[in-house]
Amino acid sequence: MNANPSKHYDDMGMGYIRKSKQNLHNVYYNNPAIISLAGEVKGKEVFEVGCGGGSITEWLAKEGASVTACDISEQMVKYTKKKLGSKAKVLIADISKPLVFLETNSTDLIIASLVLHYISNWLPVFSEFNRILKKDGSIIISVHHPHADWKWFNKTNYFKKELYEDSWTIDGKSYPVNFYHRTLANMFAIFRKNGFFVDILLEPFPIPEAKEVDARSYETLLSNPHFLFLRLKKEG
Ligand SMILES: C[S@@+](CC[C@H](N)C(=O)[O-])C[C@H]1O[C@@H](n2cnc3c(N)ncnc32)[C@H](O)[C@@H]1O
Repeated sequence: MNANPSKHYDDMGMGYIRKSKQNLHNVYYNNPAIISLAGEVKGKEVFEVGCGGGSITEWLAKEGASVTACDISEQMVKYTKKKLGSKAKVLIADISKPLVFLETNSTDLIIASLVLHYISNWLPVFSEFNRILKKDGSIIISVHHPHADWKWFNKTNYFKKELYEDSWTIDGKSYPVNFYHRTLANMFAIFRKNGFFVDILLEPFPIPEAKEVDARSYETLLSNPHFLFLRLKKEG
């Protein structure tokens, strides 16, 4: 059993894209936090990993960034490529493999929104991020909050890195969407080993407009963290 994200997202296809464009967790919670961490992106070389249906890709292009986006799922890339046209380079790539299409010291900002929890071994990923990132570059990450996910799944051991078997229902059909739980200490150790430190950690609330969309999820997120947001910088 592994996370097999390309199959999960290829199978969900347009159903996932439609859902992610309306869903409180994406539109009113994740995306505003990622955007707040990104700040001014105009003229920056940005690499977005696991771009999915391209909501953040679209924002980056609109703000004047020079964007390269990738995803492991053919369906996600096909959709985002069509939607963005010449406004971004969008390609199929697995970020757990070497990023041969990007030069060393070529990138100002890497955005990894809700993708890293599908990857078992982060070491080669962050080693490649270090290679492609410029000296003053940043990485922005959102992942399942490690102090929340083990509770959703009634696990008894927070400290065990393991695959959690999740499933999402889209248009009445259930799809497996497995992901890895890992501890906060494990994440920080991998960052440090690859020459990064965390300069911002956010545990935000959804934006107030979320209440109109889904009052129950909104209230839940006011007392339960769901995603963890980090900005990383390269060490000296
Ligand atoms: C939850 S979606 C997030 C999409 C988008 N980043 C967002 O925040 O709306 C996760 C995406 O990561 C992609 N993905 C998972 N593992 C990947 C990998 N190893 N390399 C590249 N993309 C991956 C999936 O195909 C999926 O499109």
